[in-house]
Amino acid sequence: MRKVFGAIAVFLVLSALGVVAFLYSGMYPIGATTQHSGIIYRAVDTLVRQAVMESAKDISPPGNLEDPDLRRAGLILYRGWCLQCHGAPGVAPSPFATGMNPPPPPLVQTAREWQAKEVWWVIDNGIAMAGMPAFRFKLTDEEMWAITAFVASLPELSPAAYAAMVKEAEANPGFAARRGKGGGS
Ligand code: HEC
Repeated sequence: MRKVFGAIAVFLVLSALGVVAFLYSGMYPIGATTQHSGIIYRAVDTLVRQAVMESAKDISPPGNLEDPDLRRAGLILYRGWCLQCHGAPGVAPSPFATGMNPPPPPLVQTAREWQAKEVWWVIDNGIAMAGMPAFRFKLTDEEMWAITAFVASLPELSPAAYAAMVKEAEANPGFAARRGKGGGS
């Protein structure tokens, strides 16, 4: 029995040394042009998803996220703060976003699979080491809920419906009028 524990201990120490040696070797392909391997990708994806679910579990939306006025205000804010990276129905992200790794995903699928409170938490806190900024110091809670409400409506928005909603929102921006342009002003 003692031999088995001894062998396990030696194995663990060697593994730890191996990891440290790898970290210092400079061999990891860190450029954004190299895709992560499947295992790393799945591990990070699980890490993010689980952490977001856990962090957001006690949050609840302050009101009705299906309110059209709130969604329109959210659209204005979304265009100022999110569109460059995530695009919108019929609108491609800015060219720089396609060079990011991980790439900012289109949020339609996220809106189908994630709860609103989880989307809100990510806007508030960002995602470390992923290029997703935290907006807590830029936007109010109310503004972040408006954006969340808009994101939740993405699965129902065709490119034409989106374009129509942009026109409508520009004519009636609601409380987003103050800060819809992005850049914090
Ligand atoms: C500078 C680019 C950038 C901007 C601006 C940005 N994001 Fe992101 N966002 C990212 C990246 C990159 C990821 C992917 C993170 C990952 O894969 O773990 C991401 C992930 C997300 C996710 C999680 C999606 C998923 O399925 O994993 C949500 C939700 C999100 N962003 C919402 C927003 C909203 C709403 C805004 C505007 C308030 C915004 N983002 C602005 C880059 C950006």
